[in-house]
Amino acid sequence: MKIGVIGTGYVGLVSGVMLSTEDNSVICIDKSKDIITKLKIGECTIYENMLDHYLKSSLDNNKISFSSNYNDIKDVEALFICVGTPSSDDGSANLDYIYSSIDSSLEVVSKDCLIIIKSTVPPGSSKKFQDYIYKKGYHNKIATNPEFLREGTAIYDFQNADRIVFGIQNEQSKKILLDIYKSDVLKGTEIVFTDLTTSEMIKYVSNSFLSIKLSFINEMANLCEKIDANIHDLSKGVGLDKRIGSMFLNAGPGYGGSCFPKDTNALKFVSDKLNVKSLVLDASIESNLARYSLMAKKIEDNAGGKKIAILGMSFKAGTDDVRDSPAVEIINILSEKGYDMNCYDPASNNNFRSLNIRNTKTCKSLNEAVKDTNTIVILTEWEEFKEINLEDISKLVTNKIIIDLRNIIDRDYALKLGFEVTNIGIA
Ligand code: UGA
Repeated sequence: MKIGVIGTGYVGLVSGVMLSTEDNSVICIDKSKDIITKLKIGECTIYENMLDHYLKSSLDNNKISFSSNYNDIKDVEALFICVGTPSSDDGSANLDYIYSSIDSSLEVVSKDCLIIIKSTVPPGSSKKFQDYIYKKGYHNKIATNPEFLREGTAIYDFQNADRIVFGIQNEQSKKILLDIYKSDVLKGTEIVFTDLTTSEMIKYVSNSFLSIKLSFINEMANLCEKIDANIHDLSKGVGLDKRIGSMFLNAGPGYGGSCFPKDTNALKFVSDKLNVKSLVLDASIESNLARYSLMAKKIEDNAGGKKIAILGMSFKAGTDDVRDSPAVEIINILSEKGYDMNCYDPASNNNFRSLNIRNTKTCKSLNEAVKDTNTIVILTEWEEFKEINLEDISKLVTNKIIIDLRNIIDRDYALKLGFEVTNIGIA
């Protein structure tokens, strides 16, 4: 099938490239000419494991093309809208990019082209998009197909989806969507067909539910520290209950990234607006916001001085993304308090540097970051930090102090080498 994709950010580029590996021909549109120029020559514009491999292969096989010109989507049979829905100041999702993509697309696509909303939009939005289209005098149908890919493992998640959700209004839309997602993509994956609004809710509630799980385990980690219990064993013992599940039970410095904080706030905004109490969600948001200062306080209480090494600035391992990163939030607080920080991340150094945070120096290597500092603070769970050679490191630092907010280093071994170790959820 001939498919168009509007927006080549994380969602659009991964979806476009991966759908082009199936029996589809894909044209991706982005208003940024710079991005399009790079993608045309197979240069990946986002950091995502294996994406460059699939991008090059689809370019070689003429299965994917890139353009900044909407005229190039005129003969697509289905169009995925994958543009950003950033938070407005009040927490609501800003849908301006979606409306302008719809405007530009309607001018060129045929009346039978199905417009599929993949961007995360608040419940009820797609119905409004449909009304908007009808009011403009067009007849194109809207469908939804929310995205559940995680940054860093997006290709794996695409190929091993837990479920695929489609919001549809008629049988024809169902047929088109099933034609796009061929059986090799689906591989027996459960498909949920539902109405537009429920599909939008599924996306928000999934992200919010996981955020709530994380806030809860993070608070239980605080309690473990006070009563001398161990969060690692606790998470294992609790997570083995199939009704709870072991994923998203790793306590840490708080949740972040471009989705959880934005989507939890947007769902709260919708509930507040409709006067429906969302006490659990509100508590999770509040708990997570408070966590950044709690973590900064933990660092202040345990650091050996004000010259510290920060390992990891991305919001999690496997990505160069520093948007709403807990690490950055914590660094900001420490910067205000006059800490002098050597910062190192295997992927996000450039993105972090562009934030221009006072009292930080971005380092090219782990060794450069820890040299002559009196405390090592681990904020992101990169493999490189898990494999840190503590013996070598101990010769570079002025004080042997590690504050491991991801619980990834071998605590017993570090203690044996004479390090003072502070963890999450371990007294
Ligand atoms: C999240 C969802 O997991 C995806 O399903 C969804 O498609 C995506 O948002 C989106 O809406 O686009 P992502 O933002 O890439 O994916 O990140 P996650 O892997 O979910 O992690 C979110 C945050 O939770 C990170 O700060 C991470 O460090 C934290 N986390 C996660 C923990 O602290 N502990 C855990 O056990 C798991």
